[in-house]
Amino acid sequence: MTIAVSAHQQNSPFAEGFPLNRIHPPPSHEPEGHRKYRRVDAILSTTADPINRPAARAVSFGPFSVLPAQRLLRHAGEPIRVGSRAFDILIALLDRPGELVTKNELISRAWPNTHVDEGNLKVQVALLRRVLGDGRGGERYLATDPGRGYRFVAPVTFAGDLHPSAPGAAEATKRGFNLPTRLTQPVGRADIINKLAERLPQCRLLTVAGPGGIGKTTVALAVAEQLINAYEHGVWLIDLAPLSDPELVPSAVMTALGFVAHSGEPLLELISRLRDKRMLLVLDNCEHVIASAEGLVSAVLRGAPNVQILATSREPLRAAGEHLYRLPPLASPPASAGVIAREALSFPAVQLFVERTASTLGEFELSDAGAPLIATICRNLDGIPLAIELAAARVGAFGLQGVAARMEDCFRLLTVGYRTAPPRHQTMYATFEWSYRLLSDCEQSVLRRLSTFAATSFTLGATATLAADTDRSESEILDTVLELVAKSLVVADVQGAEPRLRLLETTRTYARTKLAENAECDTLYYRQSA
Ligand SMILES: Nc1ncnc2c1ncn2[C@@H]1O[C@H](COP(=O)(O)OP(=O)(O)OP(=O)(O)O)[C@@H](O)[C@H]1O
Ligand SMILES: [Mg+2]
Repeated sequence: MTIAVSAHQQNSPFAEGFPLNRIHPPPSHEPEGHRKYRRVDAILSTTADPINRPAARAVSFGPFSVLPAQRLLRHAGEPIRVGSRAFDILIALLDRPGELVTKNELISRAWPNTHVDEGNLKVQVALLRRVLGDGRGGERYLATDPGRGYRFVAPVTFAGDLHPSAPGAAEATKRGFNLPTRLTQPVGRADIINKLAERLPQCRLLTVAGPGGIGKTTVALAVAEQLINAYEHGVWLIDLAPLSDPELVPSAVMTALGFVAHSGEPLLELISRLRDKRMLLVLDNCEHVIASAEGLVSAVLRGAPNVQILATSREPLRAAGEHLYRLPPLASPPASAGVIAREALSFPAVQLFVERTASTLGEFELSDAGAPLIATICRNLDGIPLAIELAAARVGAFGLQGVAARMEDCFRLLTVGYRTAPPRHQTMYATFEWSYRLLSDCEQSVLRRLSTFAATSFTLGATATLAADTDRSESEILDTVLELVAKSLVVADVQGAEPRLRLLETTRTYARTKLAENAECDTLYYRQSA
């Protein structure tokens, strides 16, 4: 039987007669382009005629097997559905296990002879990850090389192979690390991740700060992943979110590192164990145990000269030597009428919305009619990835129009999080509650009152008028507003001559809800208009 194969299939090691050793990557110093030509040369010199081969070769990884010629993906022997473009991408990645396959290569494989925006590739890769359950049960198949492309990192076996091959994966596991496998890839953060990964080795403590759900943990994990081979003693994640007792911070770090505390002084023991180590600690979600986290960080910085710390927090640690990076929202299209699908897809907030909607509905293509609606949704949600994810999860129930129409009441809408997400990410309201509960009474009260400001932005001086609504002095109010800025609940724009402050739309809506709960609305609105 003769099977016609497309040009790209001819270059594949799935082909019968393609020598097995060609799936091993060439020396890493060889430029990408040269490798490609070497590979093509190798194929041309093989005695087997690729056009006339009887069938393409099967390949398996984990519980999956792929029959490229039949365009079939099987899980535990059972065929499973995968879109045709996602399948092309899978084949292109399996073609060179462990090697970087650039975005352009993948696009030309999945959309031959067509110019498409990179956003389409991201959507298809996300769908592929979903189909494979990338990360579920600790299995990891695809890795992103931010800004460049993707690699297939799991061990693969080609039909007839005796030994699985996955150079990338094997190398990664040699080092100590406990980073979780990510189920989804960061959208629109490649430049930031690269920049922070470059900056981190030059500073001892880098804190990624920002409001809840903005993507601090996501970015920190991607940065840590890039640096996985840069530290002799590995990269270790310590999630502080589950801790309710700040005293337990040192023990949590000890446990994550696999150390057993023998005394009642875990911090001292920790420092003595870290003294001669070269490692990166990722202290995730510090805000609710901030003083204790700062104490630990300062002790580590003093006592363990080769340990570096990447922290995430809704507010800075305020430790000596801290480098702060405030993570911005994902960019959304500006509020101008008539954005078309192709333009909208160049904005990461829209890419994320489309990707998540496609994952939820199985299939979703952005149309020119839908683009302005999605742009409006993303803008209303301030480009906060968690809010965008939660909104995308509601498209199945309400449609795009319905989701856009419910933006005024977004806290009722954004209520269906991933089952696997932590409780504070199940709803957008819970995300704000996490921050709000950490505020002092005065901070809570000032935040509520700031939501009554009619102007979208205001000066620090203007907030002094709030003193009239409280028993606090004007200077106490100003200090409180600055605390709210530090805690990522008020945004400070310092570009102009005088800083301008504002609440994100979602923060304002939340603060107004709290205002209503506290039955303060009537008096305050009266004061504002007086
Ligand atoms: N750039 C991104 N691309 C895709 N998804 C993202 C991105 N950033 C965040 N997310 C998703 O948004 C959700 C919240 O992200 P993340 O946990 O990183 O936020 P966070 O800022 O650390 O929140 P918190 O302050 O509550 O800890 C997660 O489900 C994550 O997968
Ligand atoms: Mg986080």
